[in-house]
Amino acid sequence: MERVVESGQDLPSIVVAPPGPRSRELAARMAEVESPAFDARRQARAARSGEDQAPIVYARGRGANVFDADGNRYVDLTAGFGALLLGHAPNEASEAARVAAGDLVIALGDVYSTEIKLRACEAIRDLFPEPGARVMLGLSGADAVTCALKTALLATGKPGVIAFEGSYHGLSYGPLAALGFAPAFREPFVPHLGVPVTFAPYPESAAGLDASIEAVRAALASGSVGAILVEPILGRGGCVVPPAGFLPELRSIADAAGALLVVDEIWTGMGRTGSMLASSPVVPDVLCLGKGLGGGLPISACVGRRAVMEAWGGHGGTRIHTGTHFGSPPACAAALATIEALRARDLPARAREVGDVWRSELQAACGEAAVVRGAGLMVGVALPSSIDPLAVARELLARGFIVLTGGARGDALTLSPPLTIEPSLLRAFTDALAETIRKRRPG
Ligand SMILES: Cc1ncc(COP(=O)(O)O)c(C=O)c1O
Repeated sequence: MERVVESGQDLPSIVVAPPGPRSRELAARMAEVESPAFDARRQARAARSGEDQAPIVYARGRGANVFDADGNRYVDLTAGFGALLLGHAPNEASEAARVAAGDLVIALGDVYSTEIKLRACEAIRDLFPEPGARVMLGLSGADAVTCALKTALLATGKPGVIAFEGSYHGLSYGPLAALGFAPAFREPFVPHLGVPVTFAPYPESAAGLDASIEAVRAALASGSVGAILVEPILGRGGCVVPPAGFLPELRSIADAAGALLVVDEIWTGMGRTGSMLASSPVVPDVLCLGKGLGGGLPISACVGRRAVMEAWGGHGGTRIHTGTHFGSPPACAAALATIEALRARDLPARAREVGDVWRSELQAACGEAAVVRGAGLMVGVALPSSIDPLAVARELLARGFIVLTGGARGDALTLSPPLTIEPSLLRAFTDALAETIRKRRPG
């Protein structure tokens, strides 16, 4: 039989209207076994959008393509929530993880570690814009933010945190306390959330900068704030790029108040927005990395200035922050390989160039019906209230393009394809989106 060569950069091929029968069967079984919250959300979305929201079930991926359980091929504009910077396997990260797993799946964390963990930590340290930084590993983005919040409390002795409306930092308790995106995520758990957080508005344009900074200053005036926690670009909040002065201003007022500037680059970092770090040239006190760090494998890092991280050593010799799987050899190998591949293939620059062209093509194709935001290959398409993003996402799925919805008001599509995606696939998506929007515009 002739073997079909898959490039991983192929246009969609929809052989069964998604979700096909196999996806439906597997999803129904899944709904019986996993948290009822997931199915309940689908049902609520179906009621809201008037569209079936039954999911497809992934079978495998390759490059920028995903194949579902019914044999449909999609172009993946989400890349595992932005994690698959190098695309779906095989790539440098997946191969390095496979080889590392053949040698050692788990070491002994902070007791007995491995050379691969050492090399990954050195490479992660070198991503920090100042020499001598210290690294603490985790598995998820929420782990990195939790570690950063603990660092701020240890280093400053001040429990207060300033976070921003619309921001998302993960859902374990520390990050959840600081979640400004969809307060409904936080509300049921408020009795468990001890971190005192003040929310300031995130400036969506130059016009909002003064009000945002004023709110931060007012909160700092209490003297009890140890951390300003900020995304350089709001991710789940809809890929909102703040005005250029925002981070430098936060840097200087944090310094004046003796608070740490904690920059959450879990989505923006590792080349996604066109440079290794979106916060550059601002130097954070603590940097959170995750998502793309492992090229799809679960690893995250809290990286801090040397002087700030000294607080952990000053704690009297107890290891008060660790986890069974932190620093797993396959994940460390994947992180090291991802960092090397990003550099060797100059992928941050590619993300900038390809993303700049794509965003302007998207804006031109959608016209006034949409506002295209973002940087590099982190892209938000804000839709007017007359067009339901869930319905648009559904039609795009039927056409073979996988996208997510986002935005603080749920009014946007969020797009984070692999940094390796071919522009021809992005152009095909642009045409499909423009046509979908045109069909759904009233009048
Ligand atoms: C900016 C940001 N921080 C933190 C997180 C949480 O990461 P995780 O889901 O891996 O815990 C996310 C996830 O979307 C994120 O976008």
